[in-house]
Amino acid sequence: MALPLVLLTHPLPPEWISSLQGRVRLLVGPAEPSGFAPHLLEQIGEAEGVLCLLIDRIDQNLLDLAPRLRVVSNMAVGYDNVDTLACTHRGIPVGNTPGVLTDATADLAMALLLSAARRLPKAAMDAKDGFWRTWSPTGWLGSDLRGATLGIVGMGKIGKAVAQRAQAFGLKLIYSDHKQVFEASLPFNVEYRSFDELLSESDFVSLHCPLTIQTKGMIDATALKKMKRSAILINTARGPIILNAALIQALRESWIAGAALDVTDPEPLPPDHPLYDLPNCFIVPHIGSATHGTRQRMAEMACENLLAGLDGLKLPNYVNPDVYGS
Ligand code: DGY
Repeated sequence: MALPLVLLTHPLPPEWISSLQGRVRLLVGPAEPSGFAPHLLEQIGEAEGVLCLLIDRIDQNLLDLAPRLRVVSNMAVGYDNVDTLACTHRGIPVGNTPGVLTDATADLAMALLLSAARRLPKAAMDAKDGFWRTWSPTGWLGSDLRGATLGIVGMGKIGKAVAQRAQAFGLKLIYSDHKQVFEASLPFNVEYRSFDELLSESDFVSLHCPLTIQTKGMIDATALKKMKRSAILINTARGPIILNAALIQALRESWIAGAALDVTDPEPLPPDHPLYDLPNCFIVPHIGSATHGTRQRMAEMACENLLAGLDGLKLPNYVNPDVYGS
C-alpha cells in the first residue's frame, strides 16, 4: 500500500522528524518564505497530512484544495494560523505542541524584561560604539525589579512559569485572565486584577494570552494610556494583540517607558518599520521557543500528532475537541 503523502511546509532537521521515516511520503517546502510553496500546492489534492509552522495559513481555501486531508499538525502551541472551525467542519483534527516550550518562552520573557529594565541593548551598543569613557554614576540607569509590580496578562502555562521566575527577582505579581485561577493552589503569590487595574498598577506588563478575536488589538491607545509612564510592555505572545500605531505613539510620546517585543505584526517586521527607530523599543525575531532542545521536542510532538492522525487515532495534543464529538 502506498504511504500517505504528507506536506512538510518548511524543512526540519532529519533527526527531529526521524519518526516519519518509512511511515509517510514527505514533500518538503522551502526554508523561506512563509506559506505553501507552489510545488506543495500542486500536490495538495493528494495530501493526507500537513505538518506546518505558525507562519503557514491553513484556511478554508486551502482545505478546499485538499479533499484527502486527514490531519493538520502545527509545530507550535499557538494555532491562530489555522482555521480550526473549518478543519472541524471537515472532520480534520488539528494538533499543536503545548507544554514543551513553556520554560523556554518564560525564560525569554524574563530575558526581555531584564534587558528592557536594565537597558541592555543601549548599554551594549554604547560600549561597542566608544561611549564607555568612564564609570558614570548616572550612566545607563535602569529600573529595579525588587518591589516592582509585574502584571501578567494570561495566567496559562507560560504566564505561570513567568510568575515563578519573577517571584525569585522580588517582583510583586498580579494577573488578569478571562478566567480567575484559584490563587491558593499556585506555588507563588499572585493576585487577580481586572485588565484595567492591572494596566494601571503594573511597572511591567507581560502578555501571555493567545491571539483570539477578544485579544486582537487589546493593547490599543486606551490600554496604553492606562499604563504608568514608567512602565515597560513585554510581548512574547502574538504580535496582533498590540496595535502598532498606538504603541508607536505611546513610545514616541512617552505614555510608557519602553517595550520589548519577541512577536510583531506583521512577522517578519520589515527592516524599515518605524518600531525599529524608537530608542525605547527593542525587538527580537520570534525566538521564544528557540532553544535546540525545545524546538526538537516541538518537532517530535508535531510528528506524533501527525502520525496519530494518519493512523485514525486521537492526536496526543489537539485543539479542536469538537472534531471528536467532545
Ligand atoms: C508557539 O509555539 O506558538 C510559539 O509562538 C513558538 O515560539
